[in-house]
Amino acid sequence: MSNKSAVITGITGQDGAYLSKLLLEKGYAVHGVLARRSSDTLWRLRELGIDGEVRLHDGDLTDLSSLIRVLQASGAAEVYNLGAQSFVGSSWQQPILTAQVDGVGALNVLEAVRLVNPQARFYQASTSEMFGLIQADRQDERTPFYPRSPYGVAKVMAHWATVNYRESFGMHASSGILFNHESPLRGIEFVTRKVSDAVARIKLGRQKVLKLGNIDAKRDWGFAGDYVEAMWLMLQQPAADDYVIATGQTTTVRQMCDIAFAHVGLRADDHLEIDPKFMRPAEVDVLLGNPAKAKERLGWEPKTSLAQLITMMVDADMRRLAG
Ligand code: NAP
Ligand code: GDD
Repeated sequence: MSNKSAVITGITGQDGAYLSKLLLEKGYAVHGVLARRSSDTLWRLRELGIDGEVRLHDGDLTDLSSLIRVLQASGAAEVYNLGAQSFVGSSWQQPILTAQVDGVGALNVLEAVRLVNPQARFYQASTSEMFGLIQADRQDERTPFYPRSPYGVAKVMAHWATVNYRESFGMHASSGILFNHESPLRGIEFVTRKVSDAVARIKLGRQKVLKLGNIDAKRDWGFAGDYVEAMWLMLQQPAADDYVIATGQTTTVRQMCDIAFAHVGLRADDHLEIDPKFMRPAEVDVLLGNPAKAKERLGWEPKTSLAQLITMMVDADMRRLAG
């Protein structure tokens, strides 16, 4: 068991909740930056039964002084920067906010670490969205970036800031380039959870139609619970580095829908409708990661198949709606 202390930005998000649970199980004192909202954002921590075990500090990624205060109060040896405006679709409507939170916000966390405890280990939540218009069939750590959204652009800045602080100041700063990862705690705006929730509603007779955008898009989808283990492993290495975390399989949105509907004995074709409202100004057509480096150096491999993931999500939404 560890007696370390960790700070997580984005602790109320999907990954923040799973990472908190993992670190608590390992004996860490877990501190989180809580960006004040008018509505309840603690539901994920409650679902995992850990809302009373983490220590929450008011703060915001756009407010450097609040980040400095959290790092001073926590004495953190590890800092995980998971906070972000993470919905790609919204980033065209809020490009400046997205840049401030996802790009400059990461720089604020790096600066806070440099000022308070430059020996602390830092994790940046980078993303396969940085590959955008893909420059290689299977994307790995050496594949050039070509972001296709304001979100991807902001994340490229944060990624390079992480590399730069490692090279400039010798900080233990790692960037995890994670491909899409989902769970029953996924936000309802993302396509897998939109589908699992709709399938449950349709099965229970509360909805008839599911409206989607580009169902030919392909994603490399894994389970968030598996992916947070990779984040922790990166910070346990003697030297900081960048790692692609993915399953190495890619699937269309349409095929993912087929799995979800079939799980409750329905046919996707009977319920799907295409609505141009959900199309994006520029699309990332296909993502497919090569996680060979993570396997070799971290000993990390995904444990959950797409079918297991999607059925887990549909079952969770059936339970929520029935309850
Ligand atoms: P998420 O569920 O959307 O969580 C985002 C978190 O960031 C929430 O806790 C949110 O707080 C917080 N946040 C938003 N604006 C903030 C601000 N101004 N100051 C402080 N905190 C703020 O995202 P996720 O799926 O857990 O993803 C975690 C990270 O990994 C994100 O950086 C995302 O971009 C990145 N990523 C995700 C995936 C994926 O497939 N899930 C893949 C690659 C990279 P509220 O709860 O108050 O809104
Ligand atoms: N959200 C959504 N809603 N997406 C749809 C819909 C719909 O109705 N219909 C089709 N899609 C397509 C999107 O156009 C995209 O090609 C794909 O489904 C996945 O969309 P999202 O689930 O919103 O995820 P994302 O790939 O844009 O972004 C997620 O993964 C990134 C990693 O690649 C987010 O978690 C990002 O934060 C993350 O960085």
